[in-house]
Amino acid sequence: MKILAIESSCDETAASVVEDGRKVLSDIVASQVEEHKLYGGVVPEIASRRHIESISGVVSEALSEANLGFDGIDAVAVTYAPGLIGALLVGVSYAKGLAMMTEKPLVPVHHIAGHIAANYITHPDLEPPFLCLVVSGGHSHIVEVKSYTEYRVIGRTRDDAAGECFDKVARVLGFPYPGGKYIDEAAKRGRKTAYSFTHPKLSGCEYDFSFSGLKTAVINLVHTASQRGETVSADDLAASFQKTVADILGEKLFAAAKALGSKKLVIAGGVSANSGIREKMKKVADSLGAALYMPELKYCGDNAAMIGAQAYYDFLAGRRADESLNAAATLSLEDISTEFGRQ
Ligand code: KG4
Ligand code: ZN
Repeated sequence: MKILAIESSCDETAASVVEDGRKVLSDIVASQVEEHKLYGGVVPEIASRRHIESISGVVSEALSEANLGFDGIDAVAVTYAPGLIGALLVGVSYAKGLAMMTEKPLVPVHHIAGHIAANYITHPDLEPPFLCLVVSGGHSHIVEVKSYTEYRVIGRTRDDAAGECFDKVARVLGFPYPGGKYIDEAAKRGRKTAYSFTHPKLSGCEYDFSFSGLKTAVINLVHTASQRGETVSADDLAASFQKTVADILGEKLFAAAKALGSKKLVIAGGVSANSGIREKMKKVADSLGAALYMPELKYCGDNAAMIGAQAYYDFLAGRRADESLNAAATLSLEDISTEFGRQ
């Protein structure tokens, strides 16, 4: 079964054709990042306008790279939540029009479910159940993936997402937006032990995260140094900060996996591209005697192939939308199991 998938939840306009949830026939991503860089972050209205301009071309390219016309597609899939509402609406409207015109089924896909499904592409043998750490620009979750379409969120961030924290720290260190990958590069040159930051103590759910304290600590350190006329080594600070984030994520995933007896660990989302975090998760998995699955770097960030992968399993579970499909800026992964006529 070949699914044409569309993703426009943030600042990438993407389309892809995926066969049976695992085989990527085409994968086109038009990034707007150079434009948003000028403003130090995503400007929602600009994002919507660029999606509108790019979407037709991106979809045509995805079809032609897959050597298919609309008649070769069995279903249309689209990210409908969560994300920037104006950005999501562009993809949703386009996909609805396309599904109606071609008389193909329309499959609505949750963006985070898509990030998790990126691993199905990279690892053809991976099947639920497993425990997944999702770390992206907007989300940090520990998710128990019970089946291809059922989730239990067992830990979440109480404030900033991990990617947001990377981007804010990168900004204060003078790196361009989005700064996660620049921190990763700088960290390779720096000393991890140059600075030490405390891990947040949270009451309540022991698998929850908090990154705003760490972000503030780094920002204060840089500002205080500059007021005193001292210089800080961006490389050392990046390395120490990255180590702290990796350790916090590692501790939480370790505790959750141990409690649940999980022997299959998965990571997903833009921040899962981080080399320090990947290294740390490998150690966590080894110490638990668990297998670790990580997406190929090109499927960590936003793309439509991951949406096409998830759409296949959503389709098999009976999820369908009609012309009344709307977008949602926020929607928990746990709330989607019973939507859209899942059987
Ligand atoms: O998943 P994603 O593309 O978009 C969302 O759904 O949010 O994640 C984007 C985030 C940004 O915060 C970006 O800085 C971060 O992923 N990121 C990284 C790396 N590559 C991308 N963070 C740390 N290290 C990286 N190598
Ligand atoms: Zn994303």
